[in-house]
Amino acid sequence: MPDAVAPPVDAATAAGDPSPRPAAGVPFAASLADFAGLARGVLPPEVYDFVAGGSGAETTLAANRAALDRIAVLPRMLRGVERPRTDAPLLGRPQAMPVAVAPMAYQRLAHPDGEPALAAAAGAAGVPYVASTLSSAPIEEITAAGGPVWFQLYWLRDRGMVCELVDRAHAAGCTALMVTVDVPILGPRLRDVRNGFALPPEVAAANLPGSRGDLAHSGSPGTSAVARHTAAAFASALTWSDVGWLRGRTDLPLVVKGVLDPRDAVLAADAGADAVVVSNHGGRQLDGAPAAVTMLAEALAAVGDRCEVLVDGGISGGVDVLRALALGASGVLIGRPLLWALAVGGRAGADAAFALLAAELRDALTLAGCADPAEARALRTITGG
Ligand SMILES: Cc1cc2nc3c(=O)[nH]c(=O)nc-3n(C[C@H](O)[C@H](O)[C@H](O)COP(=O)(O)O)c2cc1C
Repeated sequence: MPDAVAPPVDAATAAGDPSPRPAAGVPFAASLADFAGLARGVLPPEVYDFVAGGSGAETTLAANRAALDRIAVLPRMLRGVERPRTDAPLLGRPQAMPVAVAPMAYQRLAHPDGEPALAAAAGAAGVPYVASTLSSAPIEEITAAGGPVWFQLYWLRDRGMVCELVDRAHAAGCTALMVTVDVPILGPRLRDVRNGFALPPEVAAANLPGSRGDLAHSGSPGTSAVARHTAAAFASALTWSDVGWLRGRTDLPLVVKGVLDPRDAVLAADAGADAVVVSNHGGRQLDGAPAAVTMLAEALAAVGDRCEVLVDGGISGGVDVLRALALGASGVLIGRPLLWALAVGGRAGADAAFALLAAELRDALTLAGCADPAEARALRTITGG
C-alpha cells in the first residue's frame, strides 16, 4: 500500500485565503480544538464521558493540557519563509505531517461509520492511522478504506491470538506494529463506573472472536463493563522480553507506546523498537503520572538516535504540534480531537479536521520562521514562559 505524501489542499488555503471554510454538512469549526464542544452536543452523555474521561481524579488528564500551555516556543524572524512544508518522515517514511491518528477503541460509538471513515480521511490527508486491537471494524475493512494503517496491539492472554492478530495485520497491509505497554489493567475510569458504562449491542471488538455479547456489553450500575472485559482479555504480567519476542515475530517497524520513565524508553530501544511514544494514554491509566510532554526531553536524551521518539496527550492543534517538535519529538499522535470530528460529521468531519490541522501547522511554522518541521526541531522553548 503506497504511503500518500500529498497534504489535502483545501480550496480556501490554496486560494491564499487563510480563514477556515465550513465543510458541507459539518458544523462550523474555526480550529481543530472546536470539535470537542461540537461533539458534546451530539453524543450521548455516557459516550462523551467514555471518550473525554481520564482515570481517577483526572489530574494527569488535566496535566497534559496544562503542560502544553506552559511550553513557550521562541519564534525566529526574517528567515525568508513564505509557505512552509508540513511533510516529515515517521518511521522513515514520508508523511504529509509529523502526525499519526492515535489508536482509539470502539470508534463506532462516536459515529456509525467508525474506523473506516476516520482511516479514509487520514489516508486522504497523508497521515498514518493507527487501528486499535479494540476496533469496532475489522482490520481488513480499515486498511481497505485508506492507508497507511499501523496496527496497535493489546497483548491478549492467549498468545496464539496475539500471533493471529499480528499475522492478520500484516496480511491486511498494515505498515507498522504498535504495541501498547501501559495497560496491565484498565485505569479506573470513574466516569464509566458512575455511568455503569457498557457497549451498545451494535458496537463490538470486531477483531476478537465472540465479541458480540461479550463482557463489554453486560453493564451493571456502578461498574465499567469495558474495564471488566479488558481485565478478562488482556495479559497483565508482561515483561520487556515479550516485546523482544514480538520484535522477532515480525519484520514490520515496531513502535512501543506508553512509556514515561526514560529508563523504559531505553529498554524499548534495547528490545528493538523503531520508535517509542512517550504517553500516559491520554490520562487514562495511572492518575498522578506526569504530563507526557514533560518527560519528552529525558526520553530523547536517553535513547539518542537509537529510535524515533513521539509524544501524545492533549495535542489539540497545530501550535501543539510545533511545541512537540520544538521539544525534539519526531512527531505526535492525536486522539480525542479527531474522534470528536468523526462524531460531529463522519468522514466529512474528519476531512475538515485534517484540513484545519494542516492549516494550523502551516501557520505555526510560518509564524515561527520555519521552512519545515525539521527546522522546528531546532527552535528553542521556555517552560513556564
Ligand atoms: C476513547 C479512547 C480510546 C482509546 N483506545 C486506545 C486503544 O485502544 N489503544 C491504545 O493504545 N490507546 C488508546 N487510547 C489512548 C490514545 O491512543 C492516546 O494515547 C491518547 O488518547 C492521547 O491523548 P489525546 O486524546 O489527548 O490526544 C484511547 C484513548 C481514547 C480517548
